[in-house]
Amino acid sequence: MVVVELLLEITDLAVEVNNKEILSDIDLYIDNGETHVLLGPNGSGKSTLFMSILGFPNYKITRGEIIFKGQDITNLNTTERVKMGIGVSFQNPPAIRGVRLNDLLKIEHHEEIKEELSPELKTLATKLKFDAKFLERDVNLGFSGGEVKRSEILQLLAQKPDFIMFDEPDSGVDIENVELLAEEINILLDKDKKPGLRKNSGLLITHLGYILNFVQADTAHVLMDGKIACSGNPTEILEDVRKEGFKGCVECCNPIH
Ligand SMILES: Nc1ncnc2c1ncn2[C@@H]1O[C@H](COP(=O)(O)OP(=O)(O)O)[C@@H](O)[C@H]1O
Ligand SMILES: [Mg+2]
Repeated sequence: MVVVELLLEITDLAVEVNNKEILSDIDLYIDNGETHVLLGPNGSGKSTLFMSILGFPNYKITRGEIIFKGQDITNLNTTERVKMGIGVSFQNPPAIRGVRLNDLLKIEHHEEIKEELSPELKTLATKLKFDAKFLERDVNLGFSGGEVKRSEILQLLAQKPDFIMFDEPDSGVDIENVELLAEEINILLDKDKKPGLRKNSGLLITHLGYILNFVQADTAHVLMDGKIACSGNPTEILEDVRKEGFKGCVECCNPIH
């Protein structure tokens, strides 16, 4: 018998932050080549789920398990998870004083820091509208909202992870840059390949769903008050949310029989 292994299997997950339960009863299954979108109002726990999958200290898993590539990673630290192929674009990444963006990119691309940036990295940087002078700057220090998001995506292109989580890549970014980011997100998630040939997978968190005009997802989940209220077709769910707001999801997940 052939056992088909999913890329990410989260079962019955509950997470506490500072002794307060933020997430509970989370079941999430993502297959190789799939893109899932996580919607939900502010404060519903989207970033908490993101941080928990990444294994950030402070996000205490009190129940359930996270299996990645068939391995239980529930108790692995972030570095080990990243080494296994998890990549992220943070909602609000910190500035790193004293670390230049071009040096960070070289590390992520496994290049010698002393050497000049490789032609491949230079091409990627140009695509994301960064010139050599900009790459000399300290990571995120004084970057605009759009520059931070473009820098996050550039780092992922250098790193080439095979499961990527994006936390609100469209927040605080103007329309022109959302389209540029979406183009690169599509490349990171193998959208330029036919569905059956896609290998990379993703979890795309968005509050307003704007990025979904440009990045096509296979499945959507709505997080409400720390629980997944519904899962299904992204277009249908998004249409409902746009019409009725997230309050429609409450009625939908608590139907009156
Ligand atoms: N470090 C923390 N300490 C206490 N509560 C937190 C912490 N981080 C997040 N929370 C709480 O967890 C809930 C979910 O937050 P978050 O995951 O950031 O939501 P979202 O990303 O959906 O906006 C909120 O009520 C928030 O106040
Ligand atoms: Mg958030």
